[in-house]
Amino acid sequence: MTHSVTVRVPAKVNVQLAVGAPRPDGFHDLANVFLAVGMYDEVTVTPADALRVTCSGPDAASVPLDGTNLAARAATALAARYGIAPDVHLHIDKDIPVAGGMAGGSADGAAALLACDALWNTGASREELLAICAELGSDVPFSLIGGAALGVGRGERLSPVDVGGTFHWVFAVADGGLSTPAVYGEFDRLTAGTEVPQPAASAGLLSALRTGDTAALADTLSNDLQAAALSLRPSLADTLAAGTAAGALAALVSGSGPTTAFLVSDEESARKVADALLSSGTCRSARAAVSPAPGATLQRP
Ligand code: C5P
Repeated sequence: MTHSVTVRVPAKVNVQLAVGAPRPDGFHDLANVFLAVGMYDEVTVTPADALRVTCSGPDAASVPLDGTNLAARAATALAARYGIAPDVHLHIDKDIPVAGGMAGGSADGAAALLACDALWNTGASREELLAICAELGSDVPFSLIGGAALGVGRGERLSPVDVGGTFHWVFAVADGGLSTPAVYGEFDRLTAGTEVPQPAASAGLLSALRTGDTAALADTLSNDLQAAALSLRPSLADTLAAGTAAGALAALVSGSGPTTAFLVSDEESARKVADALLSSGTCRSARAAVSPAPGATLQRP
């Protein structure tokens, strides 16, 4: 019997994304508060003759299946570190929107890393796995740990944040993706010639998460990339307005977009807001999810 390992991994929303001026290496210093949401990809790894990636799910056609896929890069990086041939079939069952600002690609990287680590029994420590995640991308370490965390540096240096309740969300998926580097580039263009403050976590937001206070979280959500995402995709303003009109407590662009996130009071409001968003014709799909969610997790057969 061929042994295979499956890992389930969540999407994320940034409840605060404070962005500083560009650094000499081109990245931006961040105060990035990640919250994992219960919308999942599953990555299954099976021994094979050579490294191969396949993908299933509604957006599968837009997922790159070559060596640029973060799942493939994760397998290659771990194999190189332990002198193993990365001869595996990685199958991604994709439910997280592609290029949507919900860290779908990063999630697959973290999931593939954990799955390959279990398959190959490398004995790598959590710290080693997190270091490989950080090399793969700024958002990948968070996909491994899940829950909620504050990311500083380029977002990869994490400290866990306590969450004292369940938050209800609706996510509106736009047609097509937005390139993360293009959105950061637009942020630089929009802020050129201005004094960009050093990013800092909001004490009010961290307290809202800790106490599970939805109204306080609604008042403190913020995303410094939102103006840049709206500048590149002005139609997102209509989506944000449609969700707010339907009773969302707050609305914001998720990460670099174009997915938009709506914080709602409960499951019933989530249904109402999702229905209104769909019938507004301002998005491709709308779906409810709750947070926090656990990070990348091995699935027992
Ligand atoms: O780290 P990751 O590969 O996800 O970053 C993708 C791109 O997003 C980078 O090449 C950079 O243009 C931008 N970025 C940034 N500052 C960060 C994180 C990402 O400018 N802190």
